[in-house]
Amino acid sequence: MPSSSRTAALRGRFVTFTGNPFTMPPEDALHVEEDGLILIENGKITQCGAYDALRAQVPEGGITHYPDSLISAGFIDTHVHYPQLPVIASWGKQLLEWLQQYVFPTEAKFSSPEFAQAIARAFLQELLRNGTTTAAVYCTVHPESVTAFFQESEKLGTRMIAGKVLMDRNAPDNLRDTAQQGFDESQKLIETWHNKGRQLYAITPRFAITSTPEQLECAGALFHSRDDLFMQTHLAENEDEIAFVKTLFPERSSYLDVYDKAGLVGPRAIFGHAIHMHEHDFQQCHDTHCTLAHCPTSNLFLGSGAFRLFDAVDPRRPVNVGLGTDIGAGTSFSLLSTMGEAYKVSLMAGKQRLHAIQAFWLATAGAAQALHLDDKIGTIAPGMEADLCVLDPAATPLLALRTKECTSMADLLFVLMTLGDDRSVKATWADGRPVYVRPETA
Ligand code: GUN
Ligand code: ZN
Repeated sequence: MPSSSRTAALRGRFVTFTGNPFTMPPEDALHVEEDGLILIENGKITQCGAYDALRAQVPEGGITHYPDSLISAGFIDTHVHYPQLPVIASWGKQLLEWLQQYVFPTEAKFSSPEFAQAIARAFLQELLRNGTTTAAVYCTVHPESVTAFFQESEKLGTRMIAGKVLMDRNAPDNLRDTAQQGFDESQKLIETWHNKGRQLYAITPRFAITSTPEQLECAGALFHSRDDLFMQTHLAENEDEIAFVKTLFPERSSYLDVYDKAGLVGPRAIFGHAIHMHEHDFQQCHDTHCTLAHCPTSNLFLGSGAFRLFDAVDPRRPVNVGLGTDIGAGTSFSLLSTMGEAYKVSLMAGKQRLHAIQAFWLATAGAAQALHLDDKIGTIAPGMEADLCVLDPAATPLLALRTKECTSMADLLFVLMTLGDDRSVKATWADGRPVYVRPETA
C-alpha cells in the first residue's frame, strides 16, 4: 500500500441494501453484518465484511471501533433549501403566503457572500449532525449563494447537489433574474462546479409560478447541455399553487406538462412534493425516469396534503422516490424523523404501512438509485464512496429502554425512525474522514 494513501477502518455492526424492499420481502433486501469491518482507502470502501475475516488486513491500532452501534450508509436528503435555515419554524401560513412573508425576505440577504457563507457552514454542520452526507440543495437567485455553498461543501469533502434558483416573475424585485441572466449565471456555475471534486450541479427553476415560459425553456436547454446534470423544482404541492399554475399555463394539460414541454422531465429531474398527482402523472414520471422527493414534515407543517407513497412506488409502474426534509418548511433535519413522519403520512394517505426497512432504503440506497448515483453512494460495498453514519440505539434513556426490547433488525430500525433524531447520530463520515463526532455527555 503506497504510504501516501489515506486509510481508515471502522468496526461495528453495519446494515446495507442488496435489493429493493418494495419489490421483495423487506428482510431479503437488507444485509446485516453483526460484527463488521469496513476498510477505506482514499475515500472509498475497498473491502467490507465480517471483522474476523478482515481483521488481519489492518495494522494494530488502525481500527475505529463503534461497539453497541449501527453503521449505515450516510443519509441522502433529496430536497432542502439551505437559505431557509433562518426561517425554520415560522408560524401560521400556507405555501404561497409563507414564501412571501418569511422566505423571500430572508433569501434576499444572500446577496452578501459573507452571510451566505455563514449560513452554508451552519447548514452543512446541521446535515452532518444528522448523519446526512448528500443533499439536493436549493440556493438563492444570487450566484454568490451557490459559490458559498459549494466552497463550504468542498472543505468538508461532502458530495452535494446544488444550484442557483431561477425566478423571473412573481417574486420581489431583489430576487428576480431574467431568462438570459439566469441562463448565463447558471452556465458559469456549471462550468465552475459541476463534477468539481464531489460537487454536482442542479438547474433550479423554483417552480412554474416564478418562471416565465422563456425561463423554463432556458432551464430545459441547460438541463440538456450535458448528460449528467440534475434539475430540481417543485410540483403539485398546494391547491392554491396548482390553481395559479393553471391560470399561468392554460394551454398545458397538467402541472407536470408545464415542465415536460420545457424539456425538464427526465432522468436526474427531482420534483419536490408531488402531493396532488393523478394516475397519468405517476405514469409519466415512471415513463420518464424522473424522481419525486417526498417531504412529509414540510407537508404536515404547511398543511399541504399527504403524499401517496404507495401509489407512487406501485410495482406495476414504479416511480423513483426519495425523502426530503425541505427545510425551512420542513421541521427537522433528521432523516430518521423524516422516515417516522413518512410512516404516519402513508397511513393517513392510503392506509398503508411503511416498513422500517423500506424507510431506510428510501433514505439511502433508494435515494441513490433515484438520483442515478448508486454507483457512488447509498450502500456499504467495495468501490463505494465512504459516506457513513454511525447510529446509537441507546442515545436517550427512552431509546435505551425501548431498543433493549428489540428482537429483530426491523424492530430496531422502526424504533430508531420513530424515536430517533440528531441525538441518535454518534458520528458521521464523509469521503472516508470523520466529519462529525457527537460530543460526549456526562
Ligand atoms: N414552492 C416554491 N418554493 C418553495 C419553497 O421554498 N418551499 C416549499 N416548500 N415549496 C416551494
Ligand atoms: Zn422546497
